[in-house]
Amino acid sequence: MKKKKIKGIILAGGTATRLFPLTATTSKQLLPVYDRQMIFYPLNVLIKAGIKDILIIVAPEHSGQFLNLLGSIFEKHGIRIEFKVQKIPKGLADAFITGEDFIDEGNVAMILGDNIFEKDFSAEIKNFKSGGMIFAKKVPDPERYGVVKFDENNKVVQIVEKPKNWISDYAIPGIYVYDSRCVEAAKQAKHSERGEIEITEIHNYYLDKDELSVSVFDGEWMDAGTFDSLLEAGRIVKEKEIYKNFDHIIDEAIKEFNNEIKEIAKKRLR
Ligand code: TTP
Repeated sequence: MKKKKIKGIILAGGTATRLFPLTATTSKQLLPVYDRQMIFYPLNVLIKAGIKDILIIVAPEHSGQFLNLLGSIFEKHGIRIEFKVQKIPKGLADAFITGEDFIDEGNVAMILGDNIFEKDFSAEIKNFKSGGMIFAKKVPDPERYGVVKFDENNKVVQIVEKPKNWISDYAIPGIYVYDSRCVEAAKQAKHSERGEIEITEIHNYYLDKDELSVSVFDGEWMDAGTFDSLLEAGRIVKEKEIYKNFDHIIDEAIKEFNNEIKEIAKKRLR
């Protein structure tokens, strides 16, 4: 089967209530993690994997700030960034409904805007052909996460959201790769008790068809959604020098953006 072009989505909307009042004035994904805005970490995962078309889904109140930062800095590097506003947070899987036109007939790697990884996922993303692919990371407290149980051949057996009874030690982090059927899966998914379209619905759509694979990985995985985890993320990024492993395109784009801002500041002072 011929490999389809893969696009990227970053889900960077939401309300970020756990970070109030910080997120009353800006978006969680624009808060600093060590020396750069959080959004650059998921962007790096996609750009490192060679993805050139990226959709960033944002909340309406912060859309202007995202546009200011990312609206043009990747243009000359051959990376196209599109934005879409998600008016109401309807759940992680709503990314595929909001992003329907963008996904079109292609494959898509979706990453949550507040997830930070030490691992480089480019090999897995580049080798993806069809179906669904999730990742798994061993954690000490699986009851806090969406959890995957798999057999010795890494074949997914079961997925449970925040299991009350133990099924596995492997949590599913916020990076997922699907073919374009994820749009149909999201559209037919029933809403959960909290009124959202849960990502588990999409995993189960592929699991039911026996087309869901899982890839276990090591290395740091941080969800920077609370004061403590945000602080911890910055500390780990510094300690493990994760900021040094960015794709050169991002480093150059940030440098150019900084120079531009400095020039503007100088003009203001004149
Ligand atoms: P969450 O951390 O689950 O939600 P949140 O960011 O609104 O925070 P809180 O629980 O503190 O209120 O979201 C994970 C990521 O997905 C984060 O980057 C925000 C994003 N997201 C959306 O863009 N739209 C949505 O509908 C949801 C639920 C999340």
